[in-house]
This record gives sequence, C-alpha cells and structure tokens, in this order.
Amino acid sequence: MSGDAVLEVQGLDVHFGGVQALRNLSFTIAPGKIIGVMGPNGAGKTTLFNLVTGVYRPSAGRIVFGGRPLQGLSPARIARAGIGRTFQSGRPFANLTALENVLVGLYYGADVRRAGATDAKRRGQEVLDFVGLGKLADRPVASLNLTERKIVELARALATRPRMLLLDEPLAGFNPLELEPAIRIVRRIRDELGITVMWIEHIMTVLMETCEHLIVLHHGEKLAEGTPGEIAADAAVGDAYFGKKGATKLG
Ligand SMILES: Nc1ncnc2c1ncn2[C@@H]1O[C@H](COP(=O)(O)OP(=O)(O)O)[C@@H](O)[C@H]1O
Ligand SMILES: [Mg+2]
Repeated sequence: MSGDAVLEVQGLDVHFGGVQALRNLSFTIAPGKIIGVMGPNGAGKTTLFNLVTGVYRPSAGRIVFGGRPLQGLSPARIARAGIGRTFQSGRPFANLTALENVLVGLYYGADVRRAGATDAKRRGQEVLDFVGLGKLADRPVASLNLTERKIVELARALATRPRMLLLDEPLAGFNPLELEPAIRIVRRIRDELGITVMWIEHIMTVLMETCEHLIVLHHGEKLAEGTPGEIAADAAVGDAYFGKKGATKLG
C-alpha cells in the first residue's frame, strides 16, 4: 500500500441477508484527485460510500483514511476525521434556511469548537458564496428548486471542512444547462480547496471528462479501474453497461 494514499480499501465484503453487495473490493486513492465511481444500478456504489462513512459495517476488510483505520468509528467521528458526503436522495433540512443548513455542517465538522456564532455565520456565508448560492442564504430550503437544494447539500458537506468529499449522484435530476456550472463547482472544490473527491454519477460522459481516475463496480465487484481512456477502451465495461441486449439502466 502506498504511504501517501488518502484512502485505502482492502478486501471489503458486505452482505445484506443473501445479497452480497460488495465482494473483495480493494483500491487506493491518491490525495488531490477526482475519482469517478461508475457502475450499473445496484452495483454497490452507494454501499461503498455507506461503508466508508460508517453507516454500514463491513463483513470483512479494512478501510484506512489518512493512515488511520476507520473500523468501529461512528459516522460522526468519521465526519470529524475529514470525510464529507452528500446523499443520493438528497437530505437537506427543509425547514431551515440555506445558511442554517450550512451551519449544521460547519458545527458538525472538524473544527467545531473554534467557531464562535458570528464567525460561523460569516464562514457559512462564504461557503454559500463559493457554490454560487450566496443570495439564497436566508431562503428556507423547502422554497428552493431541486438543483438549489442539492447544491445546498453540497455546501453543507463542504462546510464540515473535509479532506475528502464523497458525492453520490449530485447531478441527478439536473437539466442539461445546469450540468456545466455544477461540474465547475466540483472542479473548484479540488483545484481551489485541495479536497480529494470521490464522485458517483450516472452520466458517464461527465465522469469521463472530469475525473483523472475511474473505478467501475459491477455486481459488487471491481470490474475495472484506470484512466478515462483505459475505461472507455475496456470491453468488459462496455458489456456491463450495454450487454448484448442493448443499454441497461445506469445508476
Ligand atoms: N441496507 C440495505 N439492505 C439490504 N440491501 C441493501 C442495502 N443497501 C444496499 N443493498 C443492496 O445492495 C446492492 C447494491 O446497492 P447500492 O449500493 O445502492 O447500488 P448502487 O448505488 O450502485 O446503485 C443492491 O442489491 C441493494 O439492493
Ligand atoms: Mg446508488
């Protein structure tokens, strides 16, 4: 295992009753990269994020973040250790304002105790400005559209000051015109904030264009891993997605 990896996953297994959702999964993530996680619906992508963030416990295997084994840590401890995430279904606090949602992340994150209330509000506003929603700070999240709600959720994760951010289909439901600005935000999270990003998205072209490295899961196993060029040329990946019967539903 390389000494400078931000995340190391070794031999990860998890099953739910009779369903083996991940099988002997291993990979290493170098710091400062944008890593795409691909695979058809049910491949185990969200399960991987739930294991890394301590929502699920693996049946076997190890997850090491920044040299520290995460085994047995609660989701809250893992968040404070520096792993932020968003949820595939979107889970904003609908009755709070956009700024209050971000403050939840800020207080939940790495350096809670150092932030006084005024300072926290200023920093929360900065995070909203960073994602381009500064003007909506005082709007209840319930009054925002889907795109804005998902960006607020991204801002909330960012406010925890993660070293690594896990994004679970952040662009699902966006219209084509909304994609490019959102992709730019993800790029800036890495380029300007230096945060390592693992990114699940069902729009393959988005990951192909944005990520330096891709991991492809299929039926809970790692089917392929490599640069976008390598993945595009991989026959097994083509079969997994399109098979002989034509396109499967991607997820
Ligand atoms: N909490 C759970 N209980 C039972 N089965 C689950 C649970 N979470 C995931 N699974 C199953 O694990 C498999 C992978 O699911 P998931 O990780 O959500 O796939 P993906 O995100 O790649 O679409 C699916 O068969 C799913 O039904
Ligand atoms: Mg999923």
